[in-house]
Amino acid sequence: MKVLLATNNQNKAREIRNIVAGKDIEIFTLSDLNLASDPEETGQTFAENATIKAEAALAEMKEKGFAGYAVAADDSGLCVDALEGGPGVYSARYAEVNGKPCTYKDNNKKLLKALKKIPMPERTAHFETVAVLINEDGTRTEAVGQLFGTIGKHERGHNGFGYDPIFIPEGTAITLAELSAEEKDEISHRGQAFRKLFA
Ligand code: IMP
Repeated sequence: MKVLLATNNQNKAREIRNIVAGKDIEIFTLSDLNLASDPEETGQTFAENATIKAEAALAEMKEKGFAGYAVAADDSGLCVDALEGGPGVYSARYAEVNGKPCTYKDNNKKLLKALKKIPMPERTAHFETVAVLINEDGTRTEAVGQLFGTIGKHERGHNGFGYDPIFIPEGTAITLAELSAEEKDEISHRGQAFRKLFA
């Protein structure tokens, strides 16, 4: 089975290729097929945004005459209980001001500031991924992965990306950025969602 993963994030592609290793599934990224799909993520939920990405890639693939591929896409974010589930679908652009792009560091800084007065027991949060697979015949499968934990008080660790340096997974005392890529893959929200999707 050939699957176009609607992303150019090579780290995501690496993680998902590891997950499907040993299965009869070949993963391609947008750049592997010279596709440029990059729709605006206007959804209010992770599922809506994952579907927007998958459908846009599917449309471009059809337009360019590709056949024999299913399309997979995902959308993820961090949901902090003290922020009523925020930043959620806005995780990537949490610290954006007037449309000016922000860095992962800006996001972490803004979140630590927002939680400044919140004590550790109340800094609970989870990462969530919704992964969507659309087959050539239009049938659609969806899977959800969640990783629960706590937001620390300082950044710690240099691995991973995004909110990893401030997210302490449940049952550990270290941040996701202090885990190796392999250790993170085993527990990550994305890993859980894609393992379910391709099961
Ligand atoms: P995406 O949908 O995978 O592109 O994720 C959207 C945003 O959520 C990212 O830009 C990060 O800010 C955050 N995020 C998603 N997954 C992770 C993760 O595994 N670690 C840290 N941050 C993440």
